[in-house]
Amino acid sequence: MQKNILVIYYTQTGQLEDIVKNIAKPFEDKKTEYKVTYYNIQLKKDFPFPWPGDVFFNTFPESYLQIPSEILPPPEEVLNTKFDLILFGYQVWYLTPSIPIISFLKSGFAEKIMKDVPVVTISGTRNMWMLSQEKLKVYLKNLNSKLVGNIALVDRHDNYTSVLTILRWLTTGKKEKSGMLPAAGISDEEIQGSVKYGRIIEQHFSSNFVGLQPELVKNGAVEIRPFLVRVEKVGNKIFTVWSNLIIRKKEKRPLLIKLFKVYLMAAIWIISPIVLIFHLLLAPLLWKKRKKQREYLQGINLK
Ligand SMILES: Cc1cc2nc3c(=O)[nH]c(=O)nc-3n(C[C@H](O)[C@H](O)[C@H](O)COP(=O)(O)O)c2cc1C
Repeated sequence: MQKNILVIYYTQTGQLEDIVKNIAKPFEDKKTEYKVTYYNIQLKKDFPFPWPGDVFFNTFPESYLQIPSEILPPPEEVLNTKFDLILFGYQVWYLTPSIPIISFLKSGFAEKIMKDVPVVTISGTRNMWMLSQEKLKVYLKNLNSKLVGNIALVDRHDNYTSVLTILRWLTTGKKEKSGMLPAAGISDEEIQGSVKYGRIIEQHFSSNFVGLQPELVKNGAVEIRPFLVRVEKVGNKIFTVWSNLIIRKKEKRPLLIKLFKVYLMAAIWIISPIVLIFHLLLAPLLWKKRKKQREYLQGINLK
């Protein structure tokens, strides 16, 4: 009998759509065995792309605090099919799964579609997805779906270059290389190469996905950079303070958003290099702990 695969995603630039379509290709190629359905999450009122700078920063508190917006109902076909596997594509906004993704997960539709279904999560981000994945694991557990694999595609340039190129891309729409800066986002080579992850998933269907994640990791699906995990940990603490402050002080919001923007730029360009120096100095002492952390973050279990 034909197996039903559902691909859930949201995308602004088209990057995540490219990724999930490449990963779904090995299933599309075996039409007698699999039927692939795509569900592109749609908000009642979508976010703009390219982003006006003030809207980009103004989205921070609701993103970080996981405050949902209203989504359009998924198509009937999606709601009424029992799927055998879900490929769940998401992007990160402010160290958290994006508002459209959170809005879907918090809608009643997610449970109806995802309950008891194996899920492979697929993220397409700048490079800081690790603690968002931990947040997503909690949602999946509460929805009673079974996380069986994770693929995290990132921009492999250094952290500073990717900040510059992604800001240029998201606020002007310009992705191509210009001047000293390379093209923004995940490389085309990597996006096209992600077909191999689809093949690996397909090969693990018959064994109920046992052994899938180690095989994905062996093939480069999840790279952990310990320095970025440290930055994310610190970032989550500070974002908690800022986001709550902005939400509480409604009347001062425009001013606080402006201050947050200045703070964020200082954190990226001044504070994070200092964190990097300490991180490197502590490397010999924390080697074992970081190795354990890497193994955990490359896996699919929830602590
Ligand atoms: C408001 C906003 C905040 C973002 N914050 C992060 C972040 O914290 N970490 C990260 O790795 N990428 C971040 N990104 C990049 C996205 O994860 C994603 O790679 C990019 O927006 C392209 O996604 P899309 O075309 O699939 O929507 C952010 C993007 C936006 C629009």
